[in-house]
Amino acid sequence: MSKIFRLPHERRTTLKEYFLHPFRHDGHEEQRALQDVTFRVEPGEFFGIIGPNGSGKSTLLKIIAGIYRQDTGTVKVNGLLSPFIELGVGFNPELTARDNIRINGTLLGLTRRELGARFDDIVAFSELERFIDQKLKNFSSGMYLRLAYAIAVQVDFDILLLDEVLAVGDAAFQEKCFASFDRFRALGRTIVLVTHDLGVVQRFADRAVLLIGGEMRALGAPDDVTEKYEAFASPLAV
Ligand SMILES: Nc1ncnc2c1ncn2[C@@H]1O[C@H](COP(=O)(O)OP(=O)(O)OP(=O)(O)O)[C@@H](O)[C@H]1O
Ligand SMILES: [Mg+2]
Repeated sequence: MSKIFRLPHERRTTLKEYFLHPFRHDGHEEQRALQDVTFRVEPGEFFGIIGPNGSGKSTLLKIIAGIYRQDTGTVKVNGLLSPFIELGVGFNPELTARDNIRINGTLLGLTRRELGARFDDIVAFSELERFIDQKLKNFSSGMYLRLAYAIAVQVDFDILLLDEVLAVGDAAFQEKCFASFDRFRALGRTIVLVTHDLGVVQRFADRAVLLIGGEMRALGAPDDVTEKYEAFASPLAV
């Protein structure tokens, strides 16, 4: 599938701008985010998505999650998704962590009873017991991450979409996330992970894809794909 963002031009307001850019007409500029991206993720697979900033990784996850719509092509999702894509989406900073767990869990499809049964597990996983009745606006970004991840993985998902989750977590929490990856694998769950940490891809992924400028440059074994990326990113490649 492919995706183009159409960005409206800033309106020309001064005569100077008009003379500087006489042929620029109002309308929109096109930003190609994804071009002919095609792959299949198998059930139970850990699939990594890597590539430089702006290469289309988050756009791809958002299309899989149904947050954005592709322009061409089809996306087929077989199973329950738990999207963990942008930190803080669905959270209200003016409410306490306790209330946010209730609201977010409900948004993600947990019933009242399930929420009741899993609340303590969510808090325990996040290790935020001491802060549970504090407003979220006083949380650090790492605390935010802990809470959001703890909720996302308490949902009964078949497919977990993760975008850059580990970036703001400390070493201990990262290890905890890695341990949860192993657990999900044992349970046959599918994980699609976007990350800049190539070591994580090599350690956990069954396969990976490399996106550059919205195009797939490599697909396959993590070692090969990360090697291609490193070759691309090295100054000698330019
Ligand atoms: N909502 C949007 N509106 C317009 N353009 C967008 C939007 N979201 C993404 N883009 C553009 O699409 C391209 C891909 O962006 P995307 O966020 O998918 O990159 P990324 O690979 O996730 O980068 P990063 O590693 O920095 O997170 C970029 O050129 C970006 O400017
Ligand atoms: Mg991104």
